[in-house]
Amino acid sequence: MRLRKLKNLDKRLEASKELIIQDGESHKGRWKFFFGNDNPVHLEIGMGKGQFIITLAQKNPNINYIGLEKEIGCLIKAAERIEARIPNLIFVHFDASNILDVFSENEVDKLYLNFSDPWPKARHEKRRLTYIDNLEKYKVILANPCDIEMKTDNIGLFEFSVESFKQAKFETIELSYDLHKDKENIITTEYEDKFTSLGNKINYIQVNYHKEAK
Ligand SMILES: C[S@@+](CC[C@H](N)C(=O)[O-])C[C@H]1O[C@@H](n2cnc3c(N)ncnc32)[C@H](O)[C@@H]1O
Repeated sequence: MRLRKLKNLDKRLEASKELIIQDGESHKGRWKFFFGNDNPVHLEIGMGKGQFIITLAQKNPNINYIGLEKEIGCLIKAAERIEARIPNLIFVHFDASNILDVFSENEVDKLYLNFSDPWPKARHEKRRLTYIDNLEKYKVILANPCDIEMKTDNIGLFEFSVESFKQAKFETIELSYDLHKDKENIITTEYEDKFTSLGNKINYIQVNYHKEAK
C-alpha cells in the first residue's frame, strides 16, 4: 500500500503506542498471556489500514486478533480510526518474511491474507505471501487444522496461490471467483471496497492443512 510520508509521524506513533507493538519478537509464544485469556488467536498479514480486522474484532470479542503490517504509516492510520480501545485487538509492526520470529508453533488459530501484494514479475514470486516457503512457515505457527482464508481481485496472484496451496498439500474448503455474488454479509477490506466499486470480481479461497500426529 503506497502512503505519502505521514506528518508528525513520531508524535502520532507515540499516541498509538498502546496499540502498535514494535517488539513482536518478545511476545513469541506468549500471545495468549499478552491478551490475558485462552481465546483463539486470529492473524491478518498485510492488514493495511485495518478496516477488516477492526470490524472482525468488534464483532467477535471472544477471539483475539493480531494485525501484522510492515508499513508503519498504515498502522498509525489504522490505530487512529479506533475511538475506544478494543481489548481483543493488537497491531504488530513487522515484516512477515520473518514470521517465525514472532509466533511459536501452533500459536495462531486462523490466518487471513487479504489483497496481498501480487508481485507480478516471475523473478519476484518468492516475495508473494503465498509462495510455498511462506506456506510452510504458516503451517508451523498455525494450530491443527491450519486454516487460511485469502481474498484478492488479482487473478494472476489467485491462480498462483491456488496452485501453491495444492503443492503444500492444503485442502480446499471453499473457492469462489466472484465472492460478492456467491456470499452475503461479507466483511470487506479497503482494497476490496475500492476494487468492487470499479467492477472487479473478488476471488476467495479457504484452505485447511491437517498436521500429522507426532
Ligand atoms: C495491497 S495492500 C492490502 C491492504 C489490506 N489488506 C486491504 O485489503 O485493504 C497489501 C498490504 O500488505 C502489506 N505487506 C506486504 N508484504 C508484507 C509483509 N511481508 N509483511 C507485512 N505486511 C506486508 C503492505 O504493506 C500493504 O499494506
